[in-house]
Amino acid sequence: MICSERGKIMKKIYLIGFMGSGKSAIGRRLSFLLKIPYYDMDQEIMKKMGMSIPEIFERYGEPFFRQQEHEFLKTFRDEWCIVSTGGGVAVNPSNSKLMRQTGLVLFLDATFADIWKRIHRDLNRPIVQSSTREELESLYTTRKRIYKSAAHILIRTEGRTLRQITEYAAFQVNRLKSNDY
Ligand code: S3P
Repeated sequence: MICSERGKIMKKIYLIGFMGSGKSAIGRRLSFLLKIPYYDMDQEIMKKMGMSIPEIFERYGEPFFRQQEHEFLKTFRDEWCIVSTGGGVAVNPSNSKLMRQTGLVLFLDATFADIWKRIHRDLNRPIVQSSTREELESLYTTRKRIYKSAAHILIRTEGRTLRQITEYAAFQVNRLKSNDY
């Protein structure tokens, strides 16, 4: 059992970080390794809305999508599980506060060069579609500071395999499980 500063029971493991930092890939592997359920926040929102992320952005706009992310965090089942978040989730301070109060927050810190390689052709990410490389890099720099301060643990991914990153994340979870922090 993990306890927060306020003695609350911590049940979730949140993965935060920029688009393309590997949150979903690591979340799935960590779930397998630790044998606890895994949820992808974007997938859950898509399921609830019955449409893709680009469709939600197009039809209802970004502020509505951000509201859905916040609702998800507030209402999602109270169980020991892994949640990979969308890259914009931690930007809202009340989301970060909620995550820190209800779980362990792991920041996957990837370089912009790696991220760009993975996301620049992705049609499913509206923010990538509507931004230049320079704009994305500047968003990356701004958000990196936010991810750092929202997270309990920072995990550098550069030069590491998915397996190494997953094992390191599992080590941190197991280490903190028995500690107050
Ligand atoms: C977003 C990241 C996406 C998705 C949406 C907005 C963002 O999730 O939630 O396209 O603002 O960074 P991933 O980080 O899983 O790509």
